[in-house]
Amino acid sequence: MNNHNEAGSSLRNKISDLIGEFYRQNAPRTEFIAGKTPIHYSGRYYDEKEMQAAVEASLDFWLTEGRFTSRFESELAKTVGTKHALLVNSGSSANLLALTALTSPLLCDRRLHPGDEVITVAAGFPTTVNPIIQNGLIPVFVDVDIPNYNINTADLLKALSPKTRAVFVAHTLGNPFNLDEIMSIARKHNLFVIEDNCDALGSFYKGQLTGSFGHLATCSFYPAHHITLGEGGAVLTSDDTLAKIVRSLKDWGRDCFCGPGQNDRCGKRFSRQYGELPFGYDHKYVYSHIGYNLKATEFQAAIGVEQLKKLNQFCEIRRRNFQLWLNGFAKHEEYFILPETTQNSDPAWFAFPLTVRSEKTAFTRNDITSYLNEHLVETRNLFGGNLLRQPAYKNITHRKIGELPNTDRVMNDTFFLGTYPGLDREQIDYSLNIVEHFFSLRGIK
Ligand SMILES: Cc1ncc(COP(=O)(O)O)c(C=O)c1O
Repeated sequence: MNNHNEAGSSLRNKISDLIGEFYRQNAPRTEFIAGKTPIHYSGRYYDEKEMQAAVEASLDFWLTEGRFTSRFESELAKTVGTKHALLVNSGSSANLLALTALTSPLLCDRRLHPGDEVITVAAGFPTTVNPIIQNGLIPVFVDVDIPNYNINTADLLKALSPKTRAVFVAHTLGNPFNLDEIMSIARKHNLFVIEDNCDALGSFYKGQLTGSFGHLATCSFYPAHHITLGEGGAVLTSDDTLAKIVRSLKDWGRDCFCGPGQNDRCGKRFSRQYGELPFGYDHKYVYSHIGYNLKATEFQAAIGVEQLKKLNQFCEIRRRNFQLWLNGFAKHEEYFILPETTQNSDPAWFAFPLTVRSEKTAFTRNDITSYLNEHLVETRNLFGGNLLRQPAYKNITHRKIGELPNTDRVMNDTFFLGTYPGLDREQIDYSLNIVEHFFSLRGIK
């Protein structure tokens, strides 16, 4: 797969040098022109290294999972502190695989069955919840706390029923949920925990990286996230059986663990009995799960290897940017609820969330976000707001604990600004100035 003869290596080096030159000549301009340069909330952040890596993978032309995938998976696992990391084509696929893994027959009597309940929240991203529905399980929605935007653990206790089997929630916008409490509830009630870590790669809870606490965790590598592969995701786990199940599910449901193009790693490819199949049926075509094909490509993995080297640096900038926003908005606390870091945690914030104190202000969330957007300062709502009020979820079978007032509040009053590494002090200062203009136009001091 990797023909490195001498002439080939020297050509590869030349190509790599040329890409470096290309990047230097064509790198995106970083000069900020107030009122002209859009202030994005997120974006790809890269240099020639990622471009060189993508081309290196294309010179191999192996295309599907290969040496870059193996390297990315082992480096990601090492970074987060899990035994396994499995690369897939998106964070949504990672979520689907993580939850579907819990339904595997390989888990015997620990396996989840249709009708079992999974505790989650409605203030979040749809594809944290969708796998619950897609697997015929029942989502049980618990309200969130403001200003940390994570699941309310007192309500989580109220949600427990004899059918509860798992908790599947995100570290909202990178802010860890209360891992001590949730892991201890899970231990006590024998529940699986899946951390949706898609917005939190690089966040710490009690000095340990999120994504390493639950039975399973997931990452997203869409460009808005802490590192990007364009598209991509990963499932993390330290449990060998769960890793085996996820590998099978992402790989058409195969029982065999040979990678693409590999043959007979187990040495018993033609010499086993599988169920009612004829003796010696080719292991490559034995299916132990109703699976999918959710694999990523070598180009993505090669880019990921380079992005991962920069994770710490990216996260430090995210922390700094969060702090700059916090300092800037501190004087407006009368009008906005400022975000609060979960106790004992050090988040690599995905974004800077604000909730308009609409009961006290003469402006709405949409007034401020549309003003900011007119002035090229990008904002986003906290994803689906209250998913239960989204058209697709109108008729889903579910339970909810109370009326979810904070979830509705998030839907009505919350928005976020970016923290990604492409944002600097100048852009944040400019944006804060726009907020001042907004206030002075409305006669607010
Ligand atoms: C919390 C959360 N989970 C899952 C996802 C889905 O990831 P992807 O876009 O890679 O499918 C996202 C996407 O941004 C997310 O924010």
